[in-house]
Amino acid sequence: MSIMDLMRPHLKNVKPYVPGKPIEELRRERNFDGEIIKLASNENPYEPIEEVRRAIIDELSQVNRYPNSGCFYLCAELGKYHALHANQIFIGNGSNEIIDLIVRAFVNPDDEIVYPWPSFIVYPIVSQLAGVKAVEVPLRDYRLDCAAMREAVTSKTKIVFICNPNNPTATYISKSEVDRFLDGLSEDVLVVFDEAYYEYVAASDFPDTISLIKDRPNVIVLRTFSKIHSLSAVRIGYSLSHEDVVTCLHKVRQPFNVNSIAQGAAIAALRNMDKIAVRAKENRDELRFMREELQKLGFVIPPSQTNFLLAVPPHGSGAIVEQLMDRGIIVRPMKPFGLGDETFRVTIGTPYENRKFIETLKGLI
Ligand SMILES: Cc1ncc(COP(=O)(O)O)c(C=O)c1O
Repeated sequence: MSIMDLMRPHLKNVKPYVPGKPIEELRRERNFDGEIIKLASNENPYEPIEEVRRAIIDELSQVNRYPNSGCFYLCAELGKYHALHANQIFIGNGSNEIIDLIVRAFVNPDDEIVYPWPSFIVYPIVSQLAGVKAVEVPLRDYRLDCAAMREAVTSKTKIVFICNPNNPTATYISKSEVDRFLDGLSEDVLVVFDEAYYEYVAASDFPDTISLIKDRPNVIVLRTFSKIHSLSAVRIGYSLSHEDVVTCLHKVRQPFNVNSIAQGAAIAALRNMDKIAVRAKENRDELRFMREELQKLGFVIPPSQTNFLLAVPPHGSGAIVEQLMDRGIIVRPMKPFGLGDETFRVTIGTPYENRKFIETLKGLI
């Protein structure tokens, strides 16, 4: 008898989440003492703005106390920001936690979960944890295939995850595609719009999913402070929905799921949104530079509305991902997503990091 035999059978084959390789791990593994540039986890390359850093330091003096359990003040601030009632907002330990809580709160053993694939790796993980059937709908030309996703919805479907823009392909679906998807869809199906990269989007036909909430109690919108706000490590994200969804999520969360440092940082971030615009603008400029340079090297690059690019290399380009790592540049291999052995995802870094990446790649191709 082994401990594995004691584990619940449907959990034995769960593959734990594999993050982008941390800088210190690469240094240790390869005994590398040069400069390391990490472009693997769609993080913001800059530290949080000064106001947010000050808020984090202020919170330190109170960490002997438990945090505000329902995130009262942050919900009020987000309510003002999004012109919704505070009781339509739920805060999570990263939007990841909310994805997990939605499944816990709503999915029965015979239900099905529909999501695009390749997409965010957490959707298959939470489906496996729930022990339910996951219906993976293949992308078409690196984009969500909304018609096929609609066809995949059956009387058993409880949740549809729509990752928009999609991680890892960076593409988006438009307002008209979303409208067609929702047209006639039963309110018994929860539609979760995962918009982790929303603040980077420039496309004018991107859907305003928050406006859907007032007529559709089955729509949930997810946003995060991990990306544009540079707060990946403090773990904070939120959902916007009908208040009944929020009531359900509160029933399944842990008592103090969001720490006080994260709450204070998020409030300061929201009060200084104007300072973030310059980062989104730099990201767009650098995104254009990176895409053009990669295309010149023969890569196929789907258009991106995010802070990252999917890079499909030209034939016969060799073990690029490993060779980049040998030279201290970490990108995210896409082999586990079935997108090609040497296809990778690269995050937009600082102008310096991006040029270093392109120069290094030129030496390899
Ligand atoms: C599509 C998508 N959703 C959610 C998340 C999770 O974000 P958080 O850090 O808020 O848990 C990510 C993070 O990479 C993501 O790419």
